[in-house]
Amino acid sequence: MTLRVEKRGATGWIVFDQPDKRNAINDAMWRGIPPAMQRFDEDPEVRCVVFRGAGTAAFSAGADISEFESTRSNEEAVGKYDHLLDRVLHAIQGSSKPSVAMIYGYCFGGGVEIALACDLRYCAASAQFSIPAAKLGLAYNVEGHKRLLETVGHARAREIMFLGRRYKADAALAMGLVHQVLPDGELEQFTDGVLQTLSENAPLSIANTKTILEEYAKSAGAPDHARMRAAIERCAQSQDYKEGRRAFMEKRKPKFQGR
Ligand code: COA
Repeated sequence: MTLRVEKRGATGWIVFDQPDKRNAINDAMWRGIPPAMQRFDEDPEVRCVVFRGAGTAAFSAGADISEFESTRSNEEAVGKYDHLLDRVLHAIQGSSKPSVAMIYGYCFGGGVEIALACDLRYCAASAQFSIPAAKLGLAYNVEGHKRLLETVGHARAREIMFLGRRYKADAALAMGLVHQVLPDGELEQFTDGVLQTLSENAPLSIANTKTILEEYAKSAGAPDHARMRAAIERCAQSQDYKEGRRAFMEKRKPKFQGR
């Protein structure tokens, strides 16, 4: 199926592992993501999730085009495919665990969708970004457009989609597609540092922010204020909040448990 799902310490890893196709994401790989996210979501030892491509040539060259004839060639198939993609993106965005995209090389189409569904994106100087839907005659899906719009704004979203051109890492940084660009040789170590911080910080504080931001960003309906209030209450009444206050007064590093 070529999706590698592994737990290493406090981090869940989801690796697109189809290097002979530049880590293109096939149907089975898309389907593997929601259960992987659920597994990490339910595991209290996992504090964060990271997506990457195998090797350093590509994060992912997008959906596996060789399957399009069977998975995206008529209206019904396109509908099913878009539904699957929505499920994947919601599984990442809706997780209480923060997610990071570590991006080397090509990040195209569905690869950009995954990266944008992640909370944080760091890329190597070698990275290149593109959504070439207009070069394939493809109707890019609703949730992908929405996240792109929220991330880069109307003007850039239109240019990215209409021209289908490639953007180098610095251009991606300038338009807010990624949070930071690192020299290729430093990306892994830098990302490890981010993952370390995410695994040390208070899980309920992070989950609270995710809940509130996702409520404001959701496609349908008004933000659920009761849900946001509940997330705040849960955090405010947590052992971790007590521990954070105590550790500050005792001038030591806090040890958060996510409770
Ligand atoms: N789906 C299926 N196969 C893909 C793929 C994809 N999205 N992207 C690359 N591949 C395959 C190529 O067909 C090629 O297979 P082959 O060796 O059997 O010919 C192999 O991966 C290597 O690709 P190649 O184009 O030779 O590598 P490159 O380094 O010169 O270029 C890309 C890499 C990513 C720029 C180029 O492959 C590309 O433009 N891919 C399509 C990207 C795309 O349109 N994605 C959006 C999908 S919605």
